Amino acid sequence: MTTTLTPQDGCTVVTGGASGIGLVTARLLLADGARKVALMDLNEPAHDVLEELRRRYGPERVQVLTCNVSQRDEVHAAVAAVGKDVPVSGVVSCAGTVMAKPSLDLTLDDLHKLFDVHLAGSLFTAQAAAIAWIASDTAGAIVNTSSVAANFGWPGRLPYPVAKAGIEALTRTLAVEWARWGIRVNAVSPGSVDSPLMADGKRPPGIKPLSEVADRHALGRVAQPQEVAEAITFLLSAKSSFITGAVLAVDGGFTITKDSAKELAQ
Ligand SMILES: NC(=O)c1ccc[n+]([C@@H]2O[C@H](COP(=O)([O-])OP(=O)(O)OC[C@H]3O[C@@H](n4cnc5c(N)ncnc54)[C@H](O)[C@@H]3O)[C@@H](O)[C@H]2O)c1
Repeated sequence: MTTTLTPQDGCTVVTGGASGIGLVTARLLLADGARKVALMDLNEPAHDVLEELRRRYGPERVQVLTCNVSQRDEVHAAVAAVGKDVPVSGVVSCAGTVMAKPSLDLTLDDLHKLFDVHLAGSLFTAQAAAIAWIASDTAGAIVNTSSVAANFGWPGRLPYPVAKAGIEALTRTLAVEWARWGIRVNAVSPGSVDSPLMADGKRPPGIKPLSEVADRHALGRVAQPQEVAEAITFLLSAKSSFITGAVLAVDGGFTITKDSAKELAQ
């Protein structure tokens, strides 16, 4: 009989865990009593942030894995390393980046830049956890990160909405394929989020500042990362035990607001 693991039972691997939504999700998991989190990212979290997390929640509960999620072997090795001490109980894929470039100029490298991190990264992380679960007759939950961008034409950003639409297709396919092992796979689809990705100076040229897109959300504002993290932790928890293959909009009513796409186009 398969044992279902919750965040309290093991380690939740959070890709993109050094920043933004991933980091806040890790913090929320720890505050809610998760046994351990592993922050998997190209970069380490800021030194003071990591120190604070370890001081507050205990060094044994916070692991840092420096890893490129688009490299299958790296990801599998990192997830296996986590599982040596504490079983992996869940996966959150938040690693990602954005790009603004006219579709007429896109190259294969551009497509790789976005598809490798979003699509291959989400697949490889989920795959590494699923292999461990199936081998040990346990099962956990996987949460991917889509975006409202998957749902409408987004001129000048093509690889991003395509990658996010792919993440939604991947989520549904893995949910069906892995249901026989009790593994649940869901996604959140945020609207605009006040994270470092969208910060002045970090946001690529051509992506509008948050202040200019706030009113495209029915609630008239953008999200704080915590509001997305709350949805992610719900989808990891036993409270969502009968939810799989779902894409949960966490968008303040962005997708139901009529002129969203037209207004966002520059
Ligand atoms: N911020 C928003 O408005 C928004 C809206 C919808 C969806 N999202 C999605 O949410 C997710 C998290 O974004 P965020 O806003 O927290 O951004 P962020 O920039 O704060 O965090 C993203 C993290 O991903 C890491 N990363 C990038 N490429 C990587 C790779 N190849 N391997 C490992 N780590 C890698 C970065 O180092 C960074 O720490 C992304 O998938 C993003 O597309 C963000």
